[in-house]
Amino acid sequence: MKMKKIFPDDFMWGVATSSYQIEGAAFEDGKGLSVWDTFSHEHGRIKNNENGDITCDHYHLWKNDIEILNDLGVQAYRLSVSWPRINPTGFDKMPNKKGLDFYDRLVDNLLEKDIIPFITLFHWDLPQELEDKGGWTVRDITDAFVQYVDMISRYLGDRVKHWITHNEPWCVSYLGYINGQFPPGIKDSWSKSFATVHHLLLSHGMAIPVIRSNSKDSHIGISLNLNHSIPASSSVHDKEACHKYDGRFNRLFLDPLYKKQYPEDIMDGFIEEGLLNPQDLEIIQDGDLELISTNTDFLGINYYSRGIIRNSKISEEDNLPVEIIQGEKTEYGWEIHPESLYDLLMRVKSDYKVGNIYITENGCSYSCAPDSSGKINDEKRIHFHKIHIQELQRAVKDGISCKGYFAWSLMDNFEWAEGFSQRFGLVWVDFNTLDRIPKESYYWYKNFIEQNGNDE
Ligand code: GCO
Repeated sequence: MKMKKIFPDDFMWGVATSSYQIEGAAFEDGKGLSVWDTFSHEHGRIKNNENGDITCDHYHLWKNDIEILNDLGVQAYRLSVSWPRINPTGFDKMPNKKGLDFYDRLVDNLLEKDIIPFITLFHWDLPQELEDKGGWTVRDITDAFVQYVDMISRYLGDRVKHWITHNEPWCVSYLGYINGQFPPGIKDSWSKSFATVHHLLLSHGMAIPVIRSNSKDSHIGISLNLNHSIPASSSVHDKEACHKYDGRFNRLFLDPLYKKQYPEDIMDGFIEEGLLNPQDLEIIQDGDLELISTNTDFLGINYYSRGIIRNSKISEEDNLPVEIIQGEKTEYGWEIHPESLYDLLMRVKSDYKVGNIYITENGCSYSCAPDSSGKINDEKRIHFHKIHIQELQRAVKDGISCKGYFAWSLMDNFEWAEGFSQRFGLVWVDFNTLDRIPKESYYWYKNFIEQNGNDE
């Protein structure tokens, strides 16, 4: 289907990865342990008890991977820096030189090929020794984060001009402290979860002036996994449940960042439901919200699916029948709903002054493998990206200032608690041989980029 050209010539088409998910070399060249090195070695935490010790071995195969990026023709590449590769314990006063050298070479090679690096500073691989001292639940972590950001941005700031402070603070705070799927694997600790939210956002605000000072003319943002959710029925019960879900998933982050306040209904609800005590909110000190809402240049949105919210606190008999039925899902079980990307973008535009937007992640999990001829016919992935880009195109036409789109992910990688069972890559990775094989979606995206979004 021919897509009418709508994206400006300076629109950036890219792909995204993250350090723990692709680098491997978990114990090499002075790198310290991250919470994911520890967590993935705890029996039962990761599907099939897999871990990221090697994963794609990008740490050693980075040159080959940059050749792939160059062949793909992306204008930009979103990667993350491994904090413990730069500051092994989190308390070191000097950076680990071999860690700096790795990212130095990576950035120089990307720039040689006219690929713009977008660096995510924290994509979940926290130094274990900082976790041992309380991690994101204690305020001191903000100083440790700023020190790390100073180390890496001082070193790369002359060449890297696009910075993302945090990736998906909701995942770190909710999956780490409420459902326990992520490190440190704690369940139902709302006080620790909220402290994590607050200190992640506070460290974001504290880091911005440091990056600006080390990286002249930089563009700085944060990447949030936002979810457009709707009530499962028109009942008041489902509408209320949906408003609360939206508050805890989206507004808990967007409001402090762009409105200098936490959402009152959500904070009151935490207290009313006994999830937080009033003293749990004393971690919010004077000036914190001012810092958290420090001006940024863009909002990164990671979009995968929508939420259909059913009130679980009342019986089915006391509720209206479910009206919204989920459509086709990916192999991860996430509903494919591109229209909700449009709805999400229009809602963000109408409710928040976010300036520019980048879609910093959008992708799907399909395990489609090489056939007898070696071809990987992942037609469903091509379709997924096409229909989501069409909705992005519609939103841009309707006034969304989106400057780029990053497909998640360049290559199959370690999918956190799912191990290697979920494949999101445009490039297949054989985790035994470490061979990379471009999928059909890679060739489609390559052609699509050459046409700057006109899909012949
Ligand atoms: C996230 C992370 C990625 C995931 C991807 C698929 O958004 O959860 O940023 O690391 O791998 O989203 O789940």
